[in-house]
Amino acid sequence: MNGASDFRSDTVTRPTAAMRAAMAAAEVGDDVLDGDPTVKELEARAAEFLGKDGALFVPSGTMANQVALGAWTRSGDEILVEREAHVVRWEAGAAGFLHGVQSVTLSSVRGAMDPGEVRATIRPDFIHCPRTALICVEQTHMGSGGSVVPLANLEAIAKVAREHAIPVHMDGARLANAAVASRIAASRYAACADSVSLCFSKGLGAPVGSVIAGSADFLARAKVVRKRLGGWMRQSGLIAAGALHALEHHVERLADDHALAKELARALHGLPGLACPPEAVETNLVLVQVTHAELDGAALAAKFKEHGVLVSALSPRVLRFVTHLDVGPKDVERTARAARSILAG
Ligand SMILES: Cc1ncc(COP(=O)(O)O)c(C=O)c1O
Repeated sequence: MNGASDFRSDTVTRPTAAMRAAMAAAEVGDDVLDGDPTVKELEARAAEFLGKDGALFVPSGTMANQVALGAWTRSGDEILVEREAHVVRWEAGAAGFLHGVQSVTLSSVRGAMDPGEVRATIRPDFIHCPRTALICVEQTHMGSGGSVVPLANLEAIAKVAREHAIPVHMDGARLANAAVASRIAASRYAACADSVSLCFSKGLGAPVGSVIAGSADFLARAKVVRKRLGGWMRQSGLIAAGALHALEHHVERLADDHALAKELARALHGLPGLACPPEAVETNLVLVQVTHAELDGAALAAKFKEHGVLVSALSPRVLRFVTHLDVGPKDVERTARAARSILAG
């Protein structure tokens, strides 16, 4: 929909002119045969950002997570994962399909699992039990509206994991948002995990690409899994250049997206039939509770669309707005106007 205010996801951004220029000018090579220089540069910069030995470039966040799962587990294992996490909810059962592992899900408070519950859920070393092979955390936590999982919570979970010699994987698709919102370096969060992913095609605004980072030992295994999944690409420097540009130029500006999300929440909260307390907005997501007697989420999203505002209906009672590089204050004004008009009708 041309000219729409598109709040459905931060994945909808299009590369800026500067990013396109960087992509067009990228030096490339065959990454599988003898290495693509731009991919190598991106992997090194991402590893530095995340405080890990190295990183592997992969096409998507899903593949980054699945490469990690494949590198840490073997068929018949079990993983502990937060109940709403992308790994278990939105990856089409890949953990079981690809790696033959089962997932035990734990509840959380805004993405923060109880370290005591994690400890209690780890299986004993007993022939009748599966091996608990991995603990998965997500930063920021999408299911609770982009909340920043507190560093102390992640450190406590890492401590439990280390006591049991179990690795931790962090789905850091939006770790840069957490770092900017909390002013805590991404590498400090990532230090709580043995592997960490980062997506460039979400708030960072690149068209394609993620990395999976970790120790040299982990990366040696991860590389084989990436190969098996078909995620090792050829002249991928073209897209890596977009990701590199994003890492260099689009991290600090995430603060603008966070401010805009709060502004949107302020504009919508308290309108009859809508609730989204601005204080609950920590990063670039706004979850709006639909309390309207006659409208459900899908109906409301359809009405917003008539006003040129695109939004996701997560359920009959929840709409999700996501701010990003391609929306600004005028889009928030348009949304507020649309909401007032719809709700008055
Ligand atoms: C938290 C989280 N992890 C992973 C992914 C997967 O990313 P992709 O769509 O690039 O596979 C997403 C996608 O939105 C996500 O929100």
